[in-house]
Amino acid sequence: MSFRCQVCGYRSPKWLGRCPQCGNYGTFVEVEEEKEAKTQVPPELLSHEPPKPLPEVPAPPPERLSTGMPEVDRVLGGLVPGAVVLFGGEPGIGKSTLLLQIAANLAERYGKVLYVSGEEAPSQIKLRAQRLGREISDLYLLSTQDLLAILNAVSRVAPMALVVDSLQTVLADPAGGEVGSLSQVRESAAQLSRVAKTAGIVTFLVSHITKEGGFAGPKTVEHLVDVAVYLEGIREGDLRILRCVKNRYGSTAEVAVLEMTGKGLVEVPNPSLFFISKEALPRPGTAIVPVLEGTRTLLVEVQALVTPAGGYGPPQRRMAGLDLNRTLVLLAVIEKHLGVHTRALDVYLAVAGGLEVTEPAADLGICAAVLSSLRDRPIPQDTVVLGEVGLAGDLRPVRKGPERLQEVAKLGFRRAVVSHQPLPKKLELEVVRAKTLREALEALELL
Ligand code: TYD
Ligand code: MG
Repeated sequence: MSFRCQVCGYRSPKWLGRCPQCGNYGTFVEVEEEKEAKTQVPPELLSHEPPKPLPEVPAPPPERLSTGMPEVDRVLGGLVPGAVVLFGGEPGIGKSTLLLQIAANLAERYGKVLYVSGEEAPSQIKLRAQRLGREISDLYLLSTQDLLAILNAVSRVAPMALVVDSLQTVLADPAGGEVGSLSQVRESAAQLSRVAKTAGIVTFLVSHITKEGGFAGPKTVEHLVDVAVYLEGIREGDLRILRCVKNRYGSTAEVAVLEMTGKGLVEVPNPSLFFISKEALPRPGTAIVPVLEGTRTLLVEVQALVTPAGGYGPPQRRMAGLDLNRTLVLLAVIEKHLGVHTRALDVYLAVAGGLEVTEPAADLGICAAVLSSLRDRPIPQDTVVLGEVGLAGDLRPVRKGPERLQEVAKLGFRRAVVSHQPLPKKLELEVVRAKTLREALEALELL
């Protein structure tokens, strides 16, 4: 006899009121030892090969598989048979949609793909496939939460790729705690990746991120997979960013920008200008900054509104898409080194289009937007600003400056006010390189 926590699977020889592993109360139930047998992997999916000397190990196939979506391929670094890819994201962001699209594309190109859902009935998935216009005959659907049923289906269908949507709905060990608990999620991921490796099946594991943390999220299994990507929403609208955080086959620096449409997610191949408003009028309080997302240069609009503080108490400091602490430091630098006081003023700052900008390279943009609003003087529309601001009021070079400026020139901007840094050899752009924040703002005629 032993006792097991129903939430996390922690085992104890005696009954406990509170679980020492997950901290929940009253979750212990008695389990019989015989019932503890874990899921039996079908024997054909297990490999008992002896170790081989390195020269005799077959080389991986040189050709990488394609998801049929070049931007997604860039992020995944090209798929190889047996790769295990974790797909994280908040509920409703579009994971099932994107994976059904990928599954359909793979089935069309390479043969059978098995899509297993623990959340939706096959008829619901069919409906989505119809909406996407992708009813592919080599795409097999199964609704189950039972790992054994999934493994049996894998051995029956012998797919080239498997999608498990989601990991938190798979029951790996009937005696091992609730569906979605840490132990179930870990055990499912471990068993599925073992099968992926021995049978050479590309395996996608979906995992929800939840704010409450009621069950085990994607972070808890990242170490078990080859590639981990996250699908993120931008605060408002239909844009999604697919970001890689771990990649055994390629770089993690890539991101893809996708847009949710009535027919699934479509790639946005040139997202550089997507985040700035098309409106022609230059407006006071706006600065355009070339930020980096992965290796991509995106132009974003930093917006500031500086107004006399209304009531009593401290003035307002509100940020959307920017780091509050960083911005407070910048306001202090403006006060100290430029003698421009914002103490009695409310300062509202936002990044248009809903992107999050955390790079210090946007510092100069933030300062310029604040000054532009304060002076009610616009920065010309054909000008971008770029530079990190130091505490001494100095300007520092930024990462990949030349690449960003190249892109800025390509997009038709005429002028850039930047920190001191190397420039590309041929550049059709008037560049002002400033050593200090003061110099840069003078060049923008804001001081
Ligand atoms: P879904 O893939 O179910 O999200 P997740 O699996 O991450 O929970 O996507 C949910 C949203 O996407 C839902 O609100 C409907 C929307 N959607 C579209 O806008 N267009 C489409 O073609 C599809 C299939 C879904
Ligand atoms: Mg889903």
